[in-house]
Amino acid sequence: MFSPTQRSLWTPAAPHIWAINATGSAAEDYVSVIRTLLDQPRWLEAQYLYDEHGSHLFEEICELPEYYLTRTENSILAECADQVISAAPVECIVELGSGTSKKTAHLLRQQIKQRGRGIFAPIDVSLSSLEASRDLISEEFPELTFNGLCARYEEGMSGVDKTVPKLFVFLGSTIGNFNRSEFSIFFRRLSQSMGPKDFLLLGVDRVKDTPLLEKAYDDSRGVTAEFILNVFRHVNRRLGSDFDRAKMRYHSWYNPQWQQIEMYAISTAAQEIHFPSFDTSFVWEENDRILVEISRKFEPRRLQSQLQFFGLKSVGHFTDPREWFSVLLFRKSQI
Ligand code: AVI
Repeated sequence: MFSPTQRSLWTPAAPHIWAINATGSAAEDYVSVIRTLLDQPRWLEAQYLYDEHGSHLFEEICELPEYYLTRTENSILAECADQVISAAPVECIVELGSGTSKKTAHLLRQQIKQRGRGIFAPIDVSLSSLEASRDLISEEFPELTFNGLCARYEEGMSGVDKTVPKLFVFLGSTIGNFNRSEFSIFFRRLSQSMGPKDFLLLGVDRVKDTPLLEKAYDDSRGVTAEFILNVFRHVNRRLGSDFDRAKMRYHSWYNPQWQQIEMYAISTAAQEIHFPSFDTSFVWEENDRILVEISRKFEPRRLQSQLQFFGLKSVGHFTDPREWFSVLLFRKSQI
């Protein structure tokens, strides 16, 4: 299942789970955080939201009454899984950022029903999530071969063999957390990693009424606020910095021009933030904001045309009765 040139980079990390040796150094991470914090406007990369506490808070968000995304996507997948699997004659399902692979179980069930066998290769940076997914999936689908890849998306994607027909699955509208340049880099890499018989299933949240969108990202229990502001605890731990959680508040809004929810931390009092290992600091002025996360919303037709330019041809579109969320199927094509 590994591409022959990449095979030697992967080593066993746990039963049925492989890890890559070639991840970036901690120093590179530090530089990337400080660079975005010193940018104008200040911002952070979404990956820093997911320490252990952040991942736990995100799971809580998925259960909130206001956060319709997870439930809606799950109901679409339950309905369309048979059509997706019959349209995509693959041997292997590769899930990007799998978590515990609960929603993907609809697809795996159909793969077994229609083909009697298959490989499931979830890619995730969290070893504990992969282990949880392995235990759940192997119990429910003993006919499947589980090969978890503990890596970043780009490392995992390019590790898999191009000659094995695959369905790449990227759910949860995670693509919405990429800014415009990250979006292009991601699809260029994904398309390069795909073989001629490969497919992509993409879950995306759609443009809709502003109040509905804004409530989903500012829930009444304050879990989203906690999730966003937790990023500073994580950054403090990793960089030895001293962001003061008591001197910040959460603010989010839907920016209609950019079709995205913007989630900010706003400083409620001036604070000097130190980065001791880099011997540097900056003043986070009162009322100045840091863009912690964006969540882009999509118009399916426009996205389908855009992805043509990355060699992805639209072959299916599934949605819910209210048309709040879309699950899009693409086939790899020549550019
Ligand atoms: C993971 N991602 C798709 C979530 C979203 O809806 O953009 C992250 C999130 N941030 C706040 N609430 C949920």
